[in-house]
Amino acid sequence: MNHFDYRDGVLCAEEVPLPLIAAGVGTPVYVYSTATLTRHYRVFTAAFGEQPVTVCYALKANSNLAIVKTLAELGAGADVVSEGELRRALAAGVPASRIVFSGVGKTREEIAFAVATGILQFNVESEPELELLSELAAAHGAEAQVGIRINPDVDPNTHAKITTGLKENKFGIDLERVPAVYARAAALPGVRPVSVAVHIGSQLTDLGPFRAAFTRVAELTESLRAQGHTVERLDLGGGLGIPYSEDLPPTPAEYAETVLAAVGHLGCELVLEPGRVLVGNAGVLVSRVVYVKEGRQRRFAVIDAAMNDLVRPTLYEAWHGILAVVQTAPEAPLEPVDIVGPVCETGDTFASRRHLPPLKPLDLLAFESAGAYGAVMASGYNSRRLVPEVLVKGENYAVVRPRQTYDEMLAQDVLPDWLANVAPRRRGVA
Ligand code: LLP
Repeated sequence: MNHFDYRDGVLCAEEVPLPLIAAGVGTPVYVYSTATLTRHYRVFTAAFGEQPVTVCYALKANSNLAIVKTLAELGAGADVVSEGELRRALAAGVPASRIVFSGVGKTREEIAFAVATGILQFNVESEPELELLSELAAAHGAEAQVGIRINPDVDPNTHAKITTGLKENKFGIDLERVPAVYARAAALPGVRPVSVAVHIGSQLTDLGPFRAAFTRVAELTESLRAQGHTVERLDLGGGLGIPYSEDLPPTPAEYAETVLAAVGHLGCELVLEPGRVLVGNAGVLVSRVVYVKEGRQRRFAVIDAAMNDLVRPTLYEAWHGILAVVQTAPEAPLEPVDIVGPVCETGDTFASRRHLPPLKPLDLLAFESAGAYGAVMASGYNSRRLVPEVLVKGENYAVVRPRQTYDEMLAQDVLPDWLANVAPRRRGVA
């Protein structure tokens, strides 16, 4: 459920008509709904009932400070995968004690920074990472709590590019190696293994793979305990899918039931890392039609958003619902149209032969379910300015990331002395 609805034929974000935002901020623009974020967070946490869970929002889905702060104020922790995300979580007011650090490639600098902030847990993905964490934490006089991320070799049945739990994927430590790595962590200074972590992929629409992975986590926990280790916390990752089209993913309640059936008996504190399910349907991308072009075989609506603003369709063949923001002729028959952007690549296609009301220049379109992995994956390809973001709350809206100006875009690059019109410095000196 979300708070984007038609009122008198005009699509609104909560109380705010999208044409108002388009007129004030321009297009393309991402628009998020506070009420939807709040609802999703509450439904997700409520699904676990009495079981204490720490919901560590996966910032990678949408790391705008306004979004992170909205969730932090509801009590969310954070799952971060870089120092940048960690800094964002802290800046948004997430307490360090509710932050977990995931990712296969944490650098020395990133680990040192995270150790100094005193985060809840490092999800360690390899033996070299464990050794480095031990070295840095011990040097800092700290004891970092460690989760060993396992690779359970379970197929999540999602797009290959967002599958993370198979043997051939770079993530996690092979199940057979885990007992040795856990023992090594228990022996090393500066680290204390407390947790098993798993994340098998994103946009899962079926509970089976979750069940399989969580069952492996439970079995492993029991065998680690039998070997005398402490496992007091389980981090079960994210991955719960959202309804982009007709497909109906499991509800948070069904997901929670699966979690608790698999690991509820272990008496562990649970950490979850949902991203998409919290923010995906809380955002739309609003764009304007520039031209309608009649091709030999197709009709194209060329819009002012492009693959650099929303890359999911071309990167993952992802399907996003597309709505006419203003229902001008609700009775008019739908017509097949290709929705394309201005970037010079055929991959800059959002939808092929999509059935939409007749479109004309300046019409507004809204891409649904664009709150997750939308703005965060945007780039400046084709020297297009980074897309702005707006957060709505009730009848108010605020620009939470302004559109980049052309001056800002140009100022990112620096000319070397030999190209700039300044006196060259001494030869050989950078
Ligand atoms: N935890 C870890 C360790 C992850 O790698 C991810 C996502 C999450 C949590 C959050 O997963 P979620 O609940 O959002 O499914 N850009 C892709 C999705 C990449 C997901 C990467 N990892 C897309 O647009 O579909």
